[in-house]
Amino acid sequence: MNDGKVWYDGQLVNAEEATVPLLSFGLQYGWGVFEGIRAYPSSDGYLIFRLKDHVNRLLRSAKLLGLEVPYSEKELYLAVCETVLANEHADYIRPIAFGGQGSSVALGTTDMPTHVAVAATRMGEYVPGAEARGIDVITSPWEKSRWRALPVTAKICGGYIASVMAKRDANRHQADEALMLNANGTVAEGSAENIFIVEHDTICTPPLSAGILEGITRDTVMQMAADLGYEVKEKEIAWDEVVSAEEVFMCGTALEIQGVRSLDGRLIGKGLPGTVTKQVISTYHDLVRGKIPKYLAWCDRAETVVKSVLI
Ligand SMILES: Cc1ncc(COP(=O)(O)O)c(C=O)c1O
Repeated sequence: MNDGKVWYDGQLVNAEEATVPLLSFGLQYGWGVFEGIRAYPSSDGYLIFRLKDHVNRLLRSAKLLGLEVPYSEKELYLAVCETVLANEHADYIRPIAFGGQGSSVALGTTDMPTHVAVAATRMGEYVPGAEARGIDVITSPWEKSRWRALPVTAKICGGYIASVMAKRDANRHQADEALMLNANGTVAEGSAENIFIVEHDTICTPPLSAGILEGITRDTVMQMAADLGYEVKEKEIAWDEVVSAEEVFMCGTALEIQGVRSLDGRLIGKGLPGTVTKQVISTYHDLVRGKIPKYLAWCDRAETVVKSVLI
């Protein structure tokens, strides 16, 4: 999966050399934060989608966790771009900052180092064939963490246990994705995606107060859909509204944007990606490949970043 080069604590090394001490807090307790970033090939080389926003979110997640990251934003931009350039055919980048091994494995230990790594791998289509048919989703029995359980707006490694279980449950039931509800019983998000429903010409998504990650793809969709002339609204969404919506789609860095074909076996709309969904998907497809001038600032060319940061 990753047999190339990994950026580990400041240097590019062979992936097999990037090892983790067994008593690391990251491994023992999930004490770490991570990101997922897409790289898209273009005629001009690799474009990294919303690099600065992902690095900002990584640092913000670390702050919420209380994890000190010993690298600047610029050093992290460089790390991401160098790693993708060092791994031919990689299209998905995974930066992670996590607690290493300290003087003790006791929970209150504070003297462990923070390790930072960036791996780049080939993801391709997250759900193969999804664009044509849409995805099948089931409601997860696992509730989205509450605000008092964990800083839910941070991408904390240990916080992903419920997401992994939800996604595996979905796959075991021949579905592609899981929908997670929050403690109030309203719709939160997917295992690693935000959700939108389409009602007439309005595109709605749950607000941050639903306990969701502030997805960068979600933000992209909101800006893009408004530019396409749709009304975009944040509102609490009930499970019933998802089933009855004209169209539903989910979005995230890995999944990109995909229409939802069914929820818990009930077909959504006509059971195929709808007109609005298709328009949003095709605009996003061009946008991330640097084909829409208005959004070019979101697409950083990896080689340019490396050159400009090194100057
Ligand atoms: C729980 C969760 N929600 C939503 C998203 C979508 O976020 P983004 O669009 O920034 O990838 C992700 C993916 O990172 C996620 O893990």
